[in-house]
Amino acid sequence: MIAEDRSEPDNPVRPPKPGTPALGVNIDHVATVRQARQTFEPDPAWAAMEAQLGGADAITFHLREDRRHINDRDARLLKEVVAIKLNMEMSVEPDIVKIAVGLKPEQCTLVPEKRQEVTTEGGLDVVGQRERVARAVKQLKKAGCTLSAFIEPIPAQIKASAAVGFDTVELWSGGYANAKTEDEKRERLQALREGIIVAQDAGLNVNVGHGLTYYNIAPVAALPGLQEFHIGHSIIARAMFVGIREAVRQMKELLIRYAPKGV
Ligand code: PXP
Repeated sequence: MIAEDRSEPDNPVRPPKPGTPALGVNIDHVATVRQARQTFEPDPAWAAMEAQLGGADAITFHLREDRRHINDRDARLLKEVVAIKLNMEMSVEPDIVKIAVGLKPEQCTLVPEKRQEVTTEGGLDVVGQRERVARAVKQLKKAGCTLSAFIEPIPAQIKASAAVGFDTVELWSGGYANAKTEDEKRERLQALREGIIVAQDAGLNVNVGHGLTYYNIAPVAALPGLQEFHIGHSIIARAMFVGIREAVRQMKELLIRYAPKGV
């Protein structure tokens, strides 16, 4: 089969131009609403279509071990219908790795996962779980996926991620998002800034995500060297009032407006 050409300038699902900020939209919360009634609506695949039309560059879903929101059928359907980058967040549990190997999303983002957490808390401990993580990375790479490590902006974690074969790191911005004072916010931003440099020096692509909103995105969007911004809760929350397409469009506009000069 001949690969479809998505390079036309007016094609809404074209890949982002190199050097422009890309937005990955996490649609888990659409499935959360569905699961509140254990029914068929709203469907995360429908949300993915709307996000694409709003200018998303990637769709992200997290197939959790407890299947609290996204389920196996959602994952299969998203793989079929998403025409932009599909990014699967996942733990390194062998059962989940096996599903990802079969599904072959374009990108797998390895995250820590705890049963009781409301959302992903902090980053993956690549240093402490080197063997387990390396095993998962090897299997997923063999399946043709690119690999991203969701980690805190700590040099040792970044270097370990490069050493076990990740292509990309997604730096955890939760520390910045949760900062209670201006000083702490500045410190957390500086940690991200330094983390980006360490990651680039290690030959990694650098993404960022967690806790980013319309209100706190500007200083993060202005950091040089970031490629993808992974955002879920804030976009889906705004979408309740303006629709997914418009909510995605507004966030994309902020990323472009605050991107470092020269991008
Ligand atoms: N990136 C990763 C790896 C995540 O686990 C999450 C939350 O699912 C996000 C980004 C998005 O975070 P938020 O919903 O706070 O925007």
